[in-house]
Amino acid sequence: MNTDASSPASQNVAATLFERVGGLAFFERLAAEFYVGVRTDPVLLALYPQPDDLTGAQRRLALFLAQYWGGPTDYSDERGHPRLRMRHATFPIDDSMRDRWLKHMNTALEVAVAAWRGDDAVRRASATELVGEMRDYFVRAADHLRNV
Ligand code: HEM
Repeated sequence: MNTDASSPASQNVAATLFERVGGLAFFERLAAEFYVGVRTDPVLLALYPQPDDLTGAQRRLALFLAQYWGGPTDYSDERGHPRLRMRHATFPIDDSMRDRWLKHMNTALEVAVAAWRGDDAVRRASATELVGEMRDYFVRAADHLRNV
């Protein structure tokens, strides 16, 4: 048994959310589901520079979220500092746009978490907390990006 109090195992170091969901695959699924919703939403879609090809936007969202929640820094390695408010400055985001974005993200979250937890008892036990944590962040982030 490991009794060394200075070792991470016995310090109960909190796992990052990235680790708790098992890595990048979860965020790829989440971003993919989110863009399934965006494709059904002509109002939101109209903001996108390339509405016919959302693969780049989807990938950037997955990498950003993975990085935000403690995963590898691929997003910043490719794009630099996130500066999301600046990157969204050219898209007029009002309350209704924020609500559309959040609706698609909340749906995507339900689908991605349901797929992730499956029948696994341990995952099922933590799923509600995970959803709550992510949802709170998305509400704050989307609110912060309003610019009109
Ligand atoms: C509130 C409503 C929002 C709207 C209407 C919106 C819209 C957009 C649009 C039109 C793009 C451009 C996609 C492209 O480059 O092709 C974009 C990029 C992006 N959005 Fe949003 N967004 C919103 C909220 C958010 C939130 C809350 C997050 C993160 C939590 C986010 C993360 C990103 C990221 C990471 C990119 C890619 C930035 C880059 O590296 O170029 N967005 N968004």
